[in-house]
Amino acid sequence: MSVFSDTLVQRLAVAVRVGVLTGAGISAESGIDTFRGARGLWKKFKPEELASMDAFLKNPQLVLQWYEYRRRIIKSVKPNPAHHVLMEMEKHFAHFAISTQNIDSLHFKAGSKNVLELHGNILKNRCTRCGCSNFHPETGQNGQPQKCGCGGLFRPDVVWFGEMLPEDALTESFEIAGRADVYFSIGTSAVVYPAAMLPVTAADAGAYVVEINTEKTAITNRTHESIRGKAGEILPALWRVVKSRLEETI
Ligand code: OAD
Repeated sequence: MSVFSDTLVQRLAVAVRVGVLTGAGISAESGIDTFRGARGLWKKFKPEELASMDAFLKNPQLVLQWYEYRRRIIKSVKPNPAHHVLMEMEKHFAHFAISTQNIDSLHFKAGSKNVLELHGNILKNRCTRCGCSNFHPETGQNGQPQKCGCGGLFRPDVVWFGEMLPEDALTESFEIAGRADVYFSIGTSAVVYPAAMLPVTAADAGAYVVEINTEKTAITNRTHESIRGKAGEILPALWRVVKSRLEETI
């Protein structure tokens, strides 16, 4: 007997379109701290002093040091079984996409291709003036921002507080949520908008919405199922059960 509901296994066995929203919790088992919770980054650091344009203009060295610190951690970690299973799922389903709030590239490192980065990518820099981006986010001399050819300053290519999300990734994410047969919300507290609206949008449009999280979240009561546990354990177990269901029906 599987610990997963027959409805969920069957929905996945016949699904054509599957969408996923991921948050910091999916990378926790890779060794990256989440934002909220007892060991969360926002318990130790103040977002308004580190993750905003005002902070960057006021004290660029401090902001860049914080991003260098996080880049070092992110570069040293590897995708975990949850990232790997999502990559396998992408190969199986006709339409499969991940909208991630994470900036750590771990979905790409696991081999997933259809990944929409809603909050940017910490391994890139973007010019504050012309908007061009690059993958060489070293800081300049004395920890000051590097200068772009256009004269603008390079900043981490992440979404800061008070900023808009990348329009294309956001629009596509809502389209995917609106058409999904099954939609997952994995490792996110679902308190940051507009990303938190994606699973709710999917549910309103008729998708079967499943949450995988170690705790109850702001959207638990809007999902069809909330599976409590670590993504790196739940996802591989669930995918094994779905694959054996598929083999039975061949
Ligand atoms: P949070 O830190 O708010 O939430 C992490 C969620 O992951 C919590 O609900 C945990 O219970 C859950 N969790 C922890 N470990 C887990 C595991 N092994 N498996 C499954 N779930 C686990 O992170 P986000 O929801 O991603 O924004 O935060 C959203 C945004 O808030 C971030 O993208 C960031 C932050 O401010 C920006 O920087 C723009």
